[in-house]
Amino acid sequence: MKNLKRICAILLAAGLALGSVSSMSGCASVSNGKRIVRISHAQSETHPEHLGLLKFKEYIEERLGDKYEIQIYPNELLGGAQKAIELTQTGAIDFVVAGTANLENFADVYEVFSMPYLFTSEEAYHEVMNDTDYMEAVYESTNEAGFRVLTWYNAGTRSFYAKKPIHTPDDLKGLKMRVQQSPASVNMANAFGAAASPMSFGEVYTAIQQGVIDGAENNELALTNNKHGEVAKYYSYNMHQMVPDMLIGNLKFLEGLSDEEYAIFRDAALLSTEEEMIYWDEQVEEAKKIASEQMGVEFIDVDVQTFRDKVAGVQQDMLDENEHIQELYDHIQQVNEKYTQEEGE
Ligand code: GCU
Repeated sequence: MKNLKRICAILLAAGLALGSVSSMSGCASVSNGKRIVRISHAQSETHPEHLGLLKFKEYIEERLGDKYEIQIYPNELLGGAQKAIELTQTGAIDFVVAGTANLENFADVYEVFSMPYLFTSEEAYHEVMNDTDYMEAVYESTNEAGFRVLTWYNAGTRSFYAKKPIHTPDDLKGLKMRVQQSPASVNMANAFGAAASPMSFGEVYTAIQQGVIDGAENNELALTNNKHGEVAKYYSYNMHQMVPDMLIGNLKFLEGLSDEEYAIFRDAALLSTEEEMIYWDEQVEEAKKIASEQMGVEFIDVDVQTFRDKVAGVQQDMLDENEHIQELYDHIQQVNEKYTQEEGE
């Protein structure tokens, strides 16, 4: 509650600084007769997700601009993923972009995405996530918690990076590695032999810099957009996860929209995903270039199979412990197989 008040105060100050008169109900505000719709995310303003969200804003304001104004808050300005989800839950803000790891505590079906080596190809990953009809059932799983997912964003493939080079799974032994704040992420890193250290994304840079942790795991954009390449100089392509980010909306807000408005918000969400995907590959290539040429980061190719072998039992352990992931897991395996077969043909 204290936090909610603080965020409301920040939002009110932001509104006043912009010269708008805000009337706060709860924390939702109206300015010049328009409902202000706030979106929080953790990335910089050049990140593909921010560019996707600009499309979301543009599409909605072009159609419903007399009624809604979309405000995007980047860089964890309103708090880290977990805090921002809570704010979305209470309706203090309306949307947040966060990785599925952060949703595990609300609906444990999302644990499936934390499984190491779940998807066997990018094609399979994209096909599963782009199958909107299938994913709807998964997205509904947090309705009880007061929010739901509208669409996904590609967050690439995650690998380990550290102050020291990692060539084999043995090199991870005892290294303190930051993971996302979820039980499955902690188990995953520990299964690799590392000492998992969960913390929010915004804390990682300083933690590596000060030696509190030895490294972390993420996609390549973390090196540049979040500047982790300044403090961790070795990025090893062990490629253990493809964890999607989700655009999450407050349920009351979504249910309060008319059918026509909801359709516009939903189309805007799908469009924002298309837009985000256009930038993703190109930005990853750019990040690799900047990291190696300007930041002195060394990219290390490893024998991925040795890393896969190291955590071979984890998928089955997770299936044994959580019956809610079986169906989605089986569905993903079917899609995986399709692409493995195509490759073999
Ligand atoms: C990626 C992902 C974020 C996530 C972050 C993390 O940047 O896009 O949603 O929060 O990794 O590791 O915390």
